[in-house]
Amino acid sequence: MTERRKLIAGNWKMNGLKTDGVALARAVAAQRAAAGPSAASAVDLLVCPPATLVWPVAEAVAGTGLAVGGQDCHPKVSGAHTGDISAAMLAEAGCTAVIVGHSERRQDHGEGDALIAAKAAAAHAAGLMAIICVGETETERDRGDAGTVVQRQLTGSIPPGATAANTVIAYEPVWAIGTGRTATATDVAEIHALIRADLVRRLATGNGVRILYGGSVKPANARDLMAVPDVDGALVGGASLKADEFWAIAMSCP
Ligand code: PGA
Repeated sequence: MTERRKLIAGNWKMNGLKTDGVALARAVAAQRAAAGPSAASAVDLLVCPPATLVWPVAEAVAGTGLAVGGQDCHPKVSGAHTGDISAAMLAEAGCTAVIVGHSERRQDHGEGDALIAAKAAAAHAAGLMAIICVGETETERDRGDAGTVVQRQLTGSIPPGATAANTVIAYEPVWAIGTGRTATATDVAEIHALIRADLVRRLATGNGVRILYGGSVKPANARDLMAVPDVDGALVGGASLKADEFWAIAMSCP
């Protein structure tokens, strides 16, 4: 069986100004350092601050083992794209990863699978790991379409050139994001198995690609969720804004 290191990624969304963000990242790094080398090396930790904070946060945690990522990138390297940020810009600012296709981007900005695949390819070209998000809405789940929707998103959003080293998939049921509701272990297991099967079918290194669960992950439910087969970590929103909660989630990984 392929060994996959757990990854706990914090998605800060549009929260925090510089002082808070730097302090939060430093606090996470301090908890990692205080836990000692064996706890620290057991799990990969990533924080994804708002774009303006990427640079100061990356500087603040340089050398601590805490990685920094962006929340979105443009598919092009440069050009007339007001308000956008390229993957190379994120890389220069100290990022090693970027989230693409988050449901809030899909909903608020009308992003579709083809655009998300182009963003992921741009991330790869800039040397960044792409965290590609998929997940069904409540209506789609109620209709019994969760698997079909996730399958369609995978097919459309994973670019050629994806490997276990440069790609992570995050399964985030839209109805579980920021709602306090989480999918049941059975539902998570079913969708993660579907994602794994798809990755193995399509990519030579598909068995090594990490699949994160996201949607109201918190210390109280992390242990059960992280124990589900093919759950290789978490994409954490709200609870990633508190260093002790984020760390407690990291320490819930089996
Ligand atoms: P949440 O957000 O943990 O606040 O539900 C998760 C996400 O949107 O990545």
